[in-house]
Amino acid sequence: MADIIDGREYARKKREEAAHRTAALKEKGITPCLGLILVGEEPAGISYVAAKEKALLEAGMESRDIRLSRDVSEEEILTHVVRLNRDPRIHGILVQLPLPNHIREDRIIAAIDPNKDVDGFHPVSVGNLVLGKPGFLPCTPHGVLVLLEEIKIPVAGAHVVIVGRSNIVGKPLAQLFVRREINATVTICHTGTGDLRRHTCQADILVAAAGKAGLITADMVKEGAVVIDVGVNRISANNTKKGYRLTGDVDFDAVAAKASYITPVPGGVGPMTVAMLLLNVVSAAAQFADANCLGVSTSRNSNN
Ligand code: GUN
Repeated sequence: MADIIDGREYARKKREEAAHRTAALKEKGITPCLGLILVGEEPAGISYVAAKEKALLEAGMESRDIRLSRDVSEEEILTHVVRLNRDPRIHGILVQLPLPNHIREDRIIAAIDPNKDVDGFHPVSVGNLVLGKPGFLPCTPHGVLVLLEEIKIPVAGAHVVIVGRSNIVGKPLAQLFVRREINATVTICHTGTGDLRRHTCQADILVAAAGKAGLITADMVKEGAVVIDVGVNRISANNTKKGYRLTGDVDFDAVAAKASYITPVPGGVGPMTVAMLLLNVVSAAAQFADANCLGVSTSRNSNN
């Protein structure tokens, strides 16, 4: 039976670290502040943004909340991004994804000042990640790596199989794992993969990030594998107050019987995403202080 990895516990540690670094910056007169843009009224987006704002506040930071209607134009979103770019009180910018279909996400992301790109989605950040240069790391992939580090899972030399090739998780996570200092061997599987089970069964570390409830069943997992479930799927459930429950991409009970470690959903990777965002916002504020000679001595992106 697998050990269940308590993401909330490890996230709490990282949030405390963010709070300490925030307190030090505030002594120098800088309060880290995140500009958050949410388009539309999708319940999932609203609840993610609320969780991020609550965590920022608890760590002593601030947020500037911009809510736009679902039918907003690309130009209007860009106007808000440019305003946040120019505002010296804003240190990080986050545009909650996905955006409605009529908006070109890549155009919006490319408009964000790379120095404020705390999501790590800007092409400059992606380039730095691929090249192994300092820069903002995307929060979920970074959170996965930190979790493995915290529970002391040997990653160097391990075969990591990632199911899912999204720009937010699958692709950047693969890039992180193959960095020289991490040194894993990576297979990426996706909807075009012929025999998914053949690949997943070879994983020492299996990361499910496909966004498909119950995709990973016990027969697809090697005995003793570490299973990281990044999926967050809403399943309707009449017996709950909200009318739905959250579930990952992994058939949890059956896979837990076979794995050595497993992350639950909720309470696994999700809390780590928020914690890593807080650290990126503090780093962005510290870099702003450095660049403006405000007397705060911090290395560039010291959380990376
Ligand atoms: N949607 C799902 N995950 C994320 C994330 O990490 N950042 C943003 N901006 N949107 C998301």
